[in-house]
Amino acid sequence: MKKPFFVLIFLCAFCIIRAQQTPVLPLPNDIIRSTGVFDYSKEMEVKIMRGDEGTKQVSKQLLAFLSAKKVNVISSSPNTVYLNLQKEKTLTTEAYELNITPHQITITGATNAGLFYGMQTLFQLMNADTSKQIACMQIKDAPAFAYRGMHLDVSRHFFGPDVIKQYLDVMGKLKLNYFHWHLTDDQGWRIESKKYPRLTEKGAWRTEKDGSRHGGYYTQEEIKEIVQYAKERFITIIPEIDIPGHSSAIIAAYPEFGCYPDSIQVPNTFGIKENILCPSDATFRFLADILEETTNLFPGRYFHIGGDEVPTKQWEQSERGKTYAAAHNLKPDAFHALFIERMQETLSSKNKDLIGWGEILETSPAKEITIMSWRNTKAGTEAAEKGHRVIMTPRTFCYFDYPQDWDDEKKGIYMTYLPLDKAYSFNPLDKIKSKEAQKKIWGGQACVWTEFIEDTETLQYQIFPRLVAMSESLWTNNSGKNYADFEKRLKSQKNYFVKEKELPPVDLIRFKPQK
Ligand code: ACM
Repeated sequence: MKKPFFVLIFLCAFCIIRAQQTPVLPLPNDIIRSTGVFDYSKEMEVKIMRGDEGTKQVSKQLLAFLSAKKVNVISSSPNTVYLNLQKEKTLTTEAYELNITPHQITITGATNAGLFYGMQTLFQLMNADTSKQIACMQIKDAPAFAYRGMHLDVSRHFFGPDVIKQYLDVMGKLKLNYFHWHLTDDQGWRIESKKYPRLTEKGAWRTEKDGSRHGGYYTQEEIKEIVQYAKERFITIIPEIDIPGHSSAIIAAYPEFGCYPDSIQVPNTFGIKENILCPSDATFRFLADILEETTNLFPGRYFHIGGDEVPTKQWEQSERGKTYAAAHNLKPDAFHALFIERMQETLSSKNKDLIGWGEILETSPAKEITIMSWRNTKAGTEAAEKGHRVIMTPRTFCYFDYPQDWDDEKKGIYMTYLPLDKAYSFNPLDKIKSKEAQKKIWGGQACVWTEFIEDTETLQYQIFPRLVAMSESLWTNNSGKNYADFEKRLKSQKNYFVKEKELPPVDLIRFKPQK
């Protein structure tokens, strides 16, 4: 009886020692230590053992990292890093193997994404080491979840292209692969449209209570550049155009798509707004045009149409709502489903897949639709049981606009707080009982809503270090996670994700950003 117990203790001790010696975030899933070190204190070389054009791009990033680290890279060094894009493709899409021996490091992947992730692990090993010697080991790694997302609301407060690029940099370092870009909401429309210019002339700007003007938008050229930047980091951008609710900025620009003819201002207050899109031929034409323009900008397969928080009052009370309902023999509460159905038809005609927030499950959408479960995991669990693909982003674990600490001032605004250990404990499969439903859980995502995040310093404070915890929840198998060990590894990489002076110390949970 006692034997398994001792074996267990030995295995746990072994796992902890092994993890402590490997200062990588998210923790790789399989690490085997061996003896010796790869010594690059004098010089080293980078070679592509087998690869394609994409592998050359990955190797350029490796060379740039080594140059920043002031490593002497020469040809014909006895110490070589090889990139090996597998011919036989035995590894899965994002998996990699990183084999470190005294004179040779080999990163193997079936795809360039795999090579990129192996390279990120190597970067962190090099970053944590001060002697230019890294311990020999063999890592075999693959993500626990295929969808590892990060979201940013740029409507409530606008953040320019440089901030988005920094965001993507950090995501790449943490092996996160989907950037959910919340581009439109009541408080501002953020994408240039050639066909509907008032969306940015009027809809991208609001007058704040103090009389100042807030706003901005991304030009189509900027968006193309950001999409390319994301691609180089193996990140797919999922744009979100939130309809039919959260649409005041559209209605401020084009009142004809709302429920009343009156012109409105882009709101400078937050919370759920009553102004929503009203169904009509003109509104559906507008949405089809916008999808045409935006899907051309974003080559990824997925498109988020929002669909959350839709108060039906205006559909029920306005002349436009009543007229449409009578003409189509519909009740106004069926309009929500109609919007989702139209968007789904348009997107699927463009070979794109629709994602929507949990509320759209109530509209009984087509099976191909992906549900993003945000209030809790209930909608996600139900959706998975019904056969939908699901992304879990329950707000109490995943909303990084929630405070990391708790004081009275914040209690008035937020329903809860989200400390680092809670973010770390997130598991998208929690509460999903059946194996069939578990297979439908695509992954999880951190969300950052910016009603009360006005500057990049606060944005950064809200993200770190919780995003690192999120990356581990999504990459590392649940059985391999250990919070105490995570905190240690976090400290060993604290200057890596952002500049040291900008990163709030991990143990200062009550840190406040300097205004
Ligand atoms: C949401 O937080 N309204 C998706």
